[in-house]
Formats: sequence, structure tokens, C-alpha cells
Amino acid sequence: MTQIQTPVSETRMLAAFAAPNSGRPPLWLMRQAGRYLPEYKATRAEAGSFLDLCYNPRLAVEVALQPLRRFDLDAAILFSDILVIPDGLGQPVRFEEGVGPVLLRLEDTVDFAQLSIDRMLKHLAPVYETVDRLRAALPRETALIGFSGAPWTLATYMLEGRSTREFHLGKYWAYARPDDFALLVEVLVEAVVEHLSAQVRAGAEILQIFDSWAGVLDDWGFRRWVEEPTRRIVAKLKTRHPEVPILLFARGAGARHAGLAARVGVDGVALDCTVPLQWARQEVQAHTLVQGNLDPVILRIGGAAMQRAVSAILESFAGGRFIFNLGHGILPDTPPEHVAALVNMVREASTNR
Ligand code: CP3
Repeated sequence: MTQIQTPVSETRMLAAFAAPNSGRPPLWLMRQAGRYLPEYKATRAEAGSFLDLCYNPRLAVEVALQPLRRFDLDAAILFSDILVIPDGLGQPVRFEEGVGPVLLRLEDTVDFAQLSIDRMLKHLAPVYETVDRLRAALPRETALIGFSGAPWTLATYMLEGRSTREFHLGKYWAYARPDDFALLVEVLVEAVVEHLSAQVRAGAEILQIFDSWAGVLDDWGFRRWVEEPTRRIVAKLKTRHPEVPILLFARGAGARHAGLAARVGVDGVALDCTVPLQWARQEVQAHTLVQGNLDPVILRIGGAAMQRAVSAILESFAGGRFIFNLGHGILPDTPPEHVAALVNMVREASTNR
């Protein structure tokens, strides 16, 4: 009887989780779809508001594909936003020009109890349809990444009502009223699990969890509100979808990246650009896959500065389990030619290795 071999990986991205990189590392860029592309601005104008774009599967697929038409990238990422979760749970979100996200603030535990996961799954049906259509539109060698915000980062927006520098309200709940805050985090753990699981059912092959504000908490807060909820999310997803690799972007986690993947059960960590390369090779990449970590400001600058930074990253990480990426999202005023130059640098450096 012929043994049917299940292919270990169909894409460069999935292969990266299974074995150390050989040849060119896989490459995609956080916020690869967005305002730095003129064609994005055109589609965004056609859609109306930013959330109208997120909830329009035809146009959301279009903007997700735009960077892939220009650049040889190994993955597409669902076009959506982390704040569709509060919007779906019943806390309306809007994006204001020049301000960013604006939410009606959650004031108390009574508000937490109004949030509804059933409502979210219905509200976000167009997002899952986008995933489905996007997978169908992509070539087999391009991986599809689904994503979600993590509970702590989502909670900061839900409690503050907008982007903040100081996190007064988030930290107030996190440190002064931990038992009450846990009620909100509990809802968000369930919401993130259901949201990511729905994306996998629709065709997402890799998941990334964004905890963009993980770095603002102290040690106790980091364990309690970053590691603990994320560990529970990952454990639940692993029972449902054991084959799907999960990446965690815990921006600003610094030395807490050591052992983080093992503590929360993820398959890799996305590093921000402040994490030292040699340290990360020894303390992080020795145990898990790393993704990152070019400074998006250096991408915007381009040229020799970018060449130096790209070479340093490749020298440090290219021999292990590695996905090339930025340390944070592409800036809106980045020249698209710099992205093309970056893709060439990664390719050329790797063929010379
Ligand atoms: O291409 C991709 O990476 C996929 C789409 C994506 C967006 N946001 C689209 C977007 C992803 C993965 C995100 C994640 C996200 N959103 C995060 C986590 C990552 C990070 O950057 O730290 C956070 C914190 C948000 C919340 C958010 N969304 C803010 C604060 C803002 C306003 C600031 C800004 O950059 O405009 C957004 C808006 C947003 N999300 C845009 C895009 C393309 C710009 C909207 C526009 O067209 O005006």
C-alpha cells in the first residue's frame, strides 16, 4: 500500500516553523497593506470609512493583495484591524482622521457584562468572508496570516476610548481593581479565541497575536495581563487547531522575551526593533522561531542605513528559525521603492550566504 505523505509545509512561511532557515528567509511586513501605497488610498476612498473597508470583503481582499502585486512577499495578512473585536462585541469604534480610533469608553463592570461574543461573531461575518476569499485568490506558495489583538492591548483602547501615551485608565484597572479587570480580560480571552478560530476555519494558516502595549506593564502586570491571558488563548486554540502556528508580538517586552514562547505556548515571537540581536539569538531564537525586526523608520530612510541594518539582522538570525519582518508596522510616508529595495536586499544577501 502506498503511504500518503502529508506535506509538512506548502509554503516558505510554514517551513520556517519546522526547521532552521536555509537560503532566503521568508519575508512579509507588518502593515504591508496601507497608506504608503497610492492604490490603497484609492480603494479606501471608494470604501468610505476605514471600518467600511474592513467590513467589505471585496475591497478588503483587494487591499490585502495590493502589496503582493508589487513585491515578492511570502505571506498575505488579512486586511482588518485589532479594534473590530470591541466593535463586534458592542462597543462601537470609529476612526477619525488625524486622531485614530475613537471608542465610547467602558466605564464600569456593568459595561463589561454587556459585551456579547455571539454578537461579535455575527458582526464580523464579513471579516471571515474576506479570509475565505483571500485564501481562494492567493497562490499556494503564499501563506495567509490571520490576526487578533491580545486582551491587554484591546483593553487599553476599550477603557481609554482612544490611543494613549500614559495608559492611566488601563493601569488603574490592571493594578487597583484586578478582580474587576479580570472580568473584562475573561470576555476578551473568549472573544480572541472565537475570532481567531473563525479565521482558521475560513482559511488562515498562521495566526499572529498583537500585544502592542505589552511593554508598559511591570513584571507582575506582564505576567498577569500579558502572559496569563495569552497562554489561555493559545491553549484553547491548540486543542482546536493543533496544526496552525501562532506568533506573539509582545512589543516592548525586552528581557521578558527570554522563555516567553515556552511560557505562553506560541510557536514564535515577533521582536520589536529595540531587542538586541545577539542576545535574541542566544536567549530567544535558540528556543523558538523569531520574526523581525527592522526599524520601520530605517525602512523609510532606506539606502545605506537600511543595508547596514538588514545585514545585521540577517547575520544574527538567518541561520536559525527565522521570518524577516519589521519591528513594527510600515509608516504611512514610506516610499514604496524602499520596500522593493528591502525585498531585494534580503534576497541578495541570502544567495551570497
Ligand atoms: O497590512 C496589515 O498589516 C493588516 C492590517 C492591520 C491594520 N491594523 C490595518 C490598519 C493590522 C494587523 C493592524 C493591527 C493594529 N491596529 C494594531 C497592532 C499593531 C501595531 O501597529 O501596534 C493596533 C494597535 C491597531 C489599532 C489602530 N488601527 C490604530 C491605533 C490606528 C490609527 C493609527 C494609524 O496607523 O492609522 C489604526 C488604523 C489602521 N489599521 C490603518 C490600517 C491600514 C490606517 C487606517 C487608514 O486608512 O486611515
